[in-house]
Amino acid sequence: KLNGHSLELNLPYTSFCISELLKLNRTSIFHSPFGFLDLHTMLLDEYQERLFVGGRDLVYSLNLERISDGYKEIHWPSTAVKIEECIMKGKDASDCANYVRVLHHYNRTHLLTCATGAFDPLFGYIHHAFFWFSFQDPLFYLESYRSEKIRGRCPFDPSSSFVSTLIGSELFTGLYSDYWARDSAIFRSLGRLTHIRTEHDDERLLKEPKFVGSYMIPDNEDRDDNKVYFFFTEKALEAENNVHTIYSRVGRLCVNDVGGQRTMVNKWTTFLKARLVCSVPGMNGIDTYFDELEDVFLLHTRDHKNPVIFGLFNTTSNIFRGHAICVYHMSSIRAAFNGPYAHKEGPEYHWSLYEGKVPYPRPGSCASKVNGGRYGTTRQYPDEAIGFAKNHPLMYQPIKPTHKKPILVKTDGKYNLKQLAVDRVEAEDGQYDVLFIGTDTGVVLKVITIYNQETESMEEVILEELQIFKDPVPIISMEISSKRQQLYIGSASAVAQVRFHHCDMYGSACADCCLARDPYCAWDGISCSRYYPTGTHAKRRFRRQDVRHGNAAQQCFGQQFVGDALDKTEERLAYGIENNSTLLECTPRSLQAKVVWFVQKGRETRKEEVKTDDRVVKMDLGLLFLRVHKSDAGTYFCQTVEHSFVHTVRKITLEVVEEDKVEEMFNKDHEEDRPHRMPCPVQSSFPQGVRPWYKEFLQLIGYSNFQRVEEYCEKVWCTDKKRKKLKMSPSKWKYANPQEKKVRSKPEHYRLPRHALHS
Ligand SMILES: *[C@@H]1O[C@H](CO)[C@@H](O)[C@H](O)[C@H]1NC(C)=O
Ligand SMILES: *[C@@H]1O[C@H](CO)[C@@H](O)[C@H](O)[C@H]1NC(C)=O
Ligand SMILES: *[C@@H]1O[C@H](CO)[C@@H](O)[C@H](O)[C@H]1NC(C)=O
Ligand SMILES: *[C@@H]1O[C@H](CO)[C@@H](O)[C@H](O)[C@H]1NC(C)=O
Ligand SMILES: *[C@@H]1O[C@H](CO)[C@@H](O)[C@H](O)[C@H]1NC(C)=O
Repeated sequence: KLNGHSLELNLPYTSFCISELLKLNRTSIFHSPFGFLDLHTMLLDEYQERLFVGGRDLVYSLNLERISDGYKEIHWPSTAVKIEECIMKGKDASDCANYVRVLHHYNRTHLLTCATGAFDPLFGYIHHAFFWFSFQDPLFYLESYRSEKIRGRCPFDPSSSFVSTLIGSELFTGLYSDYWARDSAIFRSLGRLTHIRTEHDDERLLKEPKFVGSYMIPDNEDRDDNKVYFFFTEKALEAENNVHTIYSRVGRLCVNDVGGQRTMVNKWTTFLKARLVCSVPGMNGIDTYFDELEDVFLLHTRDHKNPVIFGLFNTTSNIFRGHAICVYHMSSIRAAFNGPYAHKEGPEYHWSLYEGKVPYPRPGSCASKVNGGRYGTTRQYPDEAIGFAKNHPLMYQPIKPTHKKPILVKTDGKYNLKQLAVDRVEAEDGQYDVLFIGTDTGVVLKVITIYNQETESMEEVILEELQIFKDPVPIISMEISSKRQQLYIGSASAVAQVRFHHCDMYGSACADCCLARDPYCAWDGISCSRYYPTGTHAKRRFRRQDVRHGNAAQQCFGQQFVGDALDKTEERLAYGIENNSTLLECTPRSLQAKVVWFVQKGRETRKEEVKTDDRVVKMDLGLLFLRVHKSDAGTYFCQTVEHSFVHTVRKITLEVVEEDKVEEMFNKDHEEDRPHRMPCPVQSSFPQGVRPWYKEFLQLIGYSNFQRVEEYCEKVWCTDKKRKKLKMSPSKWKYANPQEKKVRSKPEHYRLPRHALHS
C-alpha cells in the first residue's frame, strides 16, 4: 500500500463495450474512406463546430455534432519524386509520406498547417469557411503551401516529438528541427518578431527532450509580460550519478523575447526551467517518483491567468511500473521560477543552490511595464543579466503538486494510461473534476477523485470504463468539449466521439443512481437523469445525488416505491444435474458491489452464508458448482453490499435432478404445467455481435447437444414475445415456465456487464 493510495484493483461502476455504446447512440465513429488515417494531430473548433484532423496525406474537417456524418477532406500526398528521394536517402518507406503535424487557427478564414512532406517539410494555409445563414457547403481546401526552408517550424520526421502553439501570428515550437532529428530546440518564427531559438548543443538547456505540450499563460494584464510554458521530459543534468535519469520539466519563456544584443543574438534570454515532481510520499521518507510526463491538460477557469494543470505521468523504475496523475496550481509553478536558481560552479561540482547576488533585471523576467519598464526589449538587457541567464537555466526548487501527492495512482498493470482530458462539473455537494483517461487499449476511463481533508487521503471512483474502439489500439489524442458534453478520441485509424454521460444506464432505481456517484447524474424521482445545478428550485427538491459518499440509504429513503422498486428481488429457478456443474447466475449492476451468497435449505428458516471451496466457486458471473450434490438443493440469495447498502438482487431456487431425467424435461410440452421444466437464460440482453454466453456456459458444463437447447429456448422465447405483444403490459407478462416467477421485467436495453461474458 502506497501512503493513502490503495493498490487494490479498483473496479469501474459500469463497463461498456463498443457495440453497446453504438446501440445507445452515445458514440459515433469516423473511419477514413481511404482505409488509413495515421492520425497525428487534432484541432477542435467549437465556434464553427468542426474537428480538424491531420493524418498521413490527409486533412479532415469533421462535424462536431456527429463525426461520422458530413466530413470534408483534403488529399495532400507528397509527390512521387519526393517520395523516391526520401527512400533513396535511406528513410523507411512508411515515413516517406506527407504527415500533417500541425493545425492551428490562423485567422477567421484560415488554418495554418505544416506537414513532413516525405522528409521535406511543407508549410501552408487551409481555407475553411462555414456559412451560417445559407445552405452553401462549407469551404475546405488547401489554399497555398510551399517547401519550408526556415528551420524550426516543422519536423522532418513523422514520429519525432513535437509541440507548437500559435500566439497571435507567432509560432512557438518545441521540436527536433533537422533531417536527422538531432537538433532539439525551442523556436519562435513566422510573425513580425525575430526568428529565435535555444542555443545549439547546449545540454544545460535541453537534453534529449520529449515535448508534451506548450501553452501561453498570462501572468497579469500587461501583455508584454506574457509567457509561454513548455512541458517536456529530458535527461536530468542534475542527476549526475545516473546519466539515464529522466525528469519532467516545465520550461518558460517571454513571448516578446528578442534575444541579446552582443551575446545570445537571436537566442532566448528568458528561458528557465524547473523540475515537475509527481511523487507519492513513502513510509520512511523515500518517495516514489513518477518521472515521465506523458500528457498534460490545462483546465481553464474563469481566471485566465490561473488554469489548473493536470499531468499524467508514468514510471519505469525497476521496482514497479505505474501511472499517476498530479494537479498543479500556477502559484506553485510561479513560485519555483521566482525562487532560487540552481548553480554549477564547474565541471567537478554538483548543481546546488545559488546563494549569490542575482542581477537586474532578474533573469527570466520579461521586458515589460510591470517589471519597471526600464527596458523596451531584451536587447537592452545588461550583459551581466544575459550572461547569468545563460549559465542558470535551471531553478533550484522543484514544482510540487497540490496536496503534495497524486490525485490518482494506478499500479495494477491493467491499463497503460496515455491521454488525459478533464471536465469540471457542479454537483449537488460541490465541484468535481471528472477525468477522462485514454489508455493504450482503446479504453477511456471516467474517474473522479475525492480528497478527504481529515485523513489527507484520496479516494478514486472509477465511474465508467468505456471501450471506444473495437480493437485494443492506443488512444493517441483527445479533445474535450464541455459545451457539447462530448469527448473526441483519436486512435491511429479512427476518430470517435462519446457523450460524457448516459445516466439512465445506471438503472431505474434511486439507489442505483446514487450508488453510481456520477456527478453528471441524479435521481429525479422517476429516473436517473442528467443533473443540472441551475434547475428551478421546485425541481431541485427532488434531486437525489450524493457524489461524496454514495449514501443511497439516506438519499433514497422514501424513494423505494417510486419507479422501479429496488426492494424487489428477482426470483429464479435453476436446475443442476447431479454430479455435473451448474451456475447460479447473479451479476450486480455495479461492478464495485461485493457479492455475498446465502442459502436456505429444506424446511429451515435460517439463512447461512455459502461456504466456497474447490467444488463451489464464487465467480463474477455467479455461484458455480463444479459438481452439484443432491444436498445442494435449496434457496440461494445473492446479496450485494455497496457503501453499506445491502440489497438482495436475486433469489434462486436450485433443484438437483438426475441425469437421465434431463431428456425427459426437454421433451415435455412447455405449455403444460409440469414440475420439472428446463429454464432458459433471459434473451434480448445480448449486444449485437456478442455470442450468447449460455452456449459457452453449456460448453463449460459439458452439455454437448447445443442445437437441442437452442431450439428449445427459441421456442420458449418466441412464445414469450408473442405473449408480450398480445398483452402489452409487462407486468402481466407470464413466463412459459409457470414456476419461474419473474418479478422484475427487464428493460430492452438491459445488458450483462462486459466482464461477465468473459469470465
Ligand atoms: C443519435 O444522436 C444524433 C445526434 O447526436 C441524432 O441526430 C440521431 O437522431 C440519434 N439517433 C438515434 C437513433 O437516436
Ligand atoms: C487569413 O490569412 C490568410 C493567409 O495569410 C490570408 O490570405 C487571408 O486574407 C487572411 N484572412 C483574414 C480574414 O484576415
Ligand atoms: C512513459 O512515458 C514516456 C513518455 O514520456 C513514453 O515514451 C513511455 O513509453 C512510457 N512508458 C510506459 C511504460 O508507458
Ligand atoms: C454421483 O456421484 C456419487 C459419488 O461419486 C455416486 O455415489 C452417485 O451414484 C452419483 N449419482 C449419479 C446420479 O450419477
Ligand atoms: C454432465 O452432463 C453432460 C450431459 O448430460 C455429460 O455429457 C457429462 O459427461 C456430464 N459431466 C459429468 C462430470 O458428469
